[in-house]
Amino acid sequence: MRKKIVAGNWKMNNDLDQTIDLIKELKSAISKTEVDIMIAPSFPFLKVAFDLTENTNIEVISQNVNENNSGAFTGEVSVKMLKSIGLSTTLIGHSERRALYYENDDLLLKKINFALENEMNVIFCFGEELSDRKSGKYFEVIKNQLDNTIIKLKSNQLKNIVLAYEPVWAIGTGETATADQAQEMHSYIRSYISERFNLEVAQNISILYGGSVKPINASEIFSKADVDGGLIGGAALNSSDFLKIIEANT
Ligand code: PGA
Repeated sequence: MRKKIVAGNWKMNNDLDQTIDLIKELKSAISKTEVDIMIAPSFPFLKVAFDLTENTNIEVISQNVNENNSGAFTGEVSVKMLKSIGLSTTLIGHSERRALYYENDDLLLKKINFALENEMNVIFCFGEELSDRKSGKYFEVIKNQLDNTIIKLKSNQLKNIVLAYEPVWAIGTGETATADQAQEMHSYIRSYISERFNLEVAQNISILYGGSVKPINASEIFSKADVDGGLIGGAALNSSDFLKIIEANT
């Protein structure tokens, strides 16, 4: 059985007090659920967030990680650092990292490999741009992104990866892929994994949808057979919205 996940990507939002307040709000309202709940606050607050969520069912994860062990990489954060404060999962390849910080598939593959080799789980993000959607080339674009990254891994590494399909045109825009569009792509991705690895790997890998998931559209999107949850940006910054989205995946 693959995991159901709702992960909140806080991006560069929330100072220390806001981080603490939001976590306290979530903690006081979250009850037992079969959904894996994750939050990704900013680097300076990961340790505080980790401590605040100990013994809860909220996992604190990182928004990014470097592909090297240590050394002269100003401004970067290593796997070892994240692990030393208790984290075991990181996002890699978010479209904002790709578009604003020029992270390409080669670099992302290095990051994935390095993280997995060092026992850090990965949520790998990918997705097509609006022009790809409009030109009808979106399957090709996704295939390329996966050909350059996921396909180069060994099948046993996929146990520690979650995939997050995030159409760039739907991120932070209020524009959402319809539930059918999400299902169409998720089913394509699962078949891709099945053909290149095997059916068991494909059936066990969680595939999240990201891109303007809100309380109002979450249930419909999560009801689709190949959608195992969501990576939530804007709506994860509001505890009541985030809780409703978690609820929608139960
Ligand atoms: P959004 O962001 O929910 O604000 O569209 C999703 C994401 O970037 O992961």
